Amino acid sequence: MKPVTVTTLATMKRAGEKITSLTAYDYSFASLLDRVGIEVIIVGDSLGMVLQGHETTLPVTIDDMVYHSRCVARGCRRALIVVDLPFMSYEASREQALTSAGRLMQQGHAHMVKLEGGASMVDTVRFLTERNVPVCGHVGLTPQSVHQLGGFRVQGREPEAAARTREDARALQDAGASLLVLESMPASLAQTITAELRIPTIGIGAGVDCDGQVLVLQDMLGIYPRPTPKFAKNFMQGHDSIEAAVKAYVDAVRKGEFPGPEHTFKEA
Ligand code: KIV
Repeated sequence: MKPVTVTTLATMKRAGEKITSLTAYDYSFASLLDRVGIEVIIVGDSLGMVLQGHETTLPVTIDDMVYHSRCVARGCRRALIVVDLPFMSYEASREQALTSAGRLMQQGHAHMVKLEGGASMVDTVRFLTERNVPVCGHVGLTPQSVHQLGGFRVQGREPEAAARTREDARALQDAGASLLVLESMPASLAQTITAELRIPTIGIGAGVDCDGQVLVLQDMLGIYPRPTPKFAKNFMQGHDSIEAAVKAYVDAVRKGEFPGPEHTFKEA
């Protein structure tokens, strides 16, 4: 069983093979996802909402992320582990970002760190990648900006916003990012960005034409007690075990059957 690396993901993109991804925050779920063949496990700061019960991801700390990343790493033999830099652990300076990323990699055993933002993060991404920290970018709906965005809203619907998102995506790639999450944007915009970039894109609420898909695990298992976004699908429906549900998700992503039109946004 060969571990998934950035090279594996780049090869999959070139071959047109879909990349499967889910979030996980602990050993047992990480082991299950790894066994089923998920390529990328994201230890997302969504844990602030689905594990800790906060309304947003903002209260999550770097200590929380290190703790959950360590738990996940113990369960993974093959999957690439991408771990979120939480709110205010990287925005102050490039040096702060490097220190936080260093903790996620050295203490949390992350293979790659993820940070939210476009143009404003380009210098930081370059600084990290020049120092051997692999980076996943995240554009579109960036949940750490929820208060600035006025809620968890679809992004990039207007032509100017779509153009800015395309420029952000390109700039992150050029700064050295090796993966890019596209969240809550029109499918047509995500399709254009995916075609324009060399690096793989992982969509969540961004349509079927991204190079891969991710969902928050609690959403795809239908166990998050608050309302879930339109793009989430409960794969437990019709399946009698968590493993069967995860396998159905993997299968649907690989065949290009998820997300369907009902999980997808259109431009304005
Ligand atoms: O926080 C998170 O879980 C994420 C993924 C859904 C991409 O950012």
